[in-house]
Amino acid sequence: MSLPPPSSEALAHSHRVAQHIAREIDTRGGWISFAYFMELALYAPGLGYYSAGAAKFGGAGDFVTAPEISPLFGRTLARPISAMLERYNGDILELGAGSGRLALDVLRELASLNTSPGRYQILELSADLRERQRALFQQHAPELLDRVSWLDELPDSFSGVVLANEVLDAMPVHLAHWRDGEIWERGVAFENGGFVWRERLMPDGELRTAAKGIVPGEDYISEVSLAAPALIRSIGKILKVGAAIFIDYGFRREEFYHPQRNRGTLMCHYRHHAHDDPFYLPGLQDITAHVDFTAITDAAATAGLEVALMTRQAKFLIDSGITDLLGQVSPQDAATYLPLANQVQRLLSPAEMGELFKVVVLEKDGNFANDP
Ligand SMILES: C[S@@+](CC[C@H](N)C(=O)[O-])C[C@H]1O[C@@H](n2cnc3c(N)ncnc32)[C@H](O)[C@@H]1O
Repeated sequence: MSLPPPSSEALAHSHRVAQHIAREIDTRGGWISFAYFMELALYAPGLGYYSAGAAKFGGAGDFVTAPEISPLFGRTLARPISAMLERYNGDILELGAGSGRLALDVLRELASLNTSPGRYQILELSADLRERQRALFQQHAPELLDRVSWLDELPDSFSGVVLANEVLDAMPVHLAHWRDGEIWERGVAFENGGFVWRERLMPDGELRTAAKGIVPGEDYISEVSLAAPALIRSIGKILKVGAAIFIDYGFRREEFYHPQRNRGTLMCHYRHHAHDDPFYLPGLQDITAHVDFTAITDAAATAGLEVALMTRQAKFLIDSGITDLLGQVSPQDAATYLPLANQVQRLLSPAEMGELFKVVVLEKDGNFANDP
């Protein structure tokens, strides 16, 4: 791989992250699940990719998410959210708010539509990102800051709209290898100064039950997510009345575990280069997996949430009025119009985010939902 070289400071940081993971492997008898490796590389306090100070989002970072691409993403989302808030009359709870861009665009648009939520709560695991989110509001909309509050964990009870853009893909996944008529778990060992893959027969338990429900073919390696469905079940528990909007890239199960995708969907992002080696520079790169949306909608069903909508991002944004918002800018004003038109193209194009990204809306409104 020829990727941009990190600074000596960044290399030293990555070395500390690797040492920390190596110690954890040692403490646990020489082997950890890939899910635990991913959790440590991304979220180990003060060390992990999301917990420490890397730039992450935008041009100077490693990847670009929809809210960073265009303010029209958040402004468009605000429209269905506005209708939901009128119906449910509650707050907004955003999970993993990144730079804070989506929160800012949604809150501003809701203010202009006169449907501001009581509160905009952000569940943010990273202290560094919280500070960046607060600074963004301070800089662009200090008048909205008193509506925003930060949480360390899900509240016991919530009514209103839960929002999560590209959160499910950042949740740790286990790796399964279906081969020789058995199911093996791919985990990580530390040998001769480096991380290596080591497989173990998957013992009985939740993971094996989930993997047994898939069996995509012989010599097939892929991810099995327990954390993302668990998050959906938690949302089902705390949501009294309201909706949860999850936006992410992924597929329904038959497409996710397609015979041709027999090495899975793990993807790493480092300075706008995508590759598939999660052991590269731990702590300096993002590690993600596509979302198995069948696991999400199955979890929703068991948690008393109705799948109100599951569609492609392009259709969702068009139905929610993104082209109307763009149409409010005159094409004569090329300096404003052209960048926005380009951004909308990236959000909608099937070759970019329009098809791969899906929007799932889960609802609980007391009429049809069974309490779990
Ligand atoms: C790829 S970033 C997306 C950030 C932002 N939503 C955006 O669209 O730019 C993934 C985010 O998910 C957060 N995250 C991961 N697991 C989470 C969890 N269990 N609860 C809340 N946030 C989580 C990470 O801390 C990170 O901020």
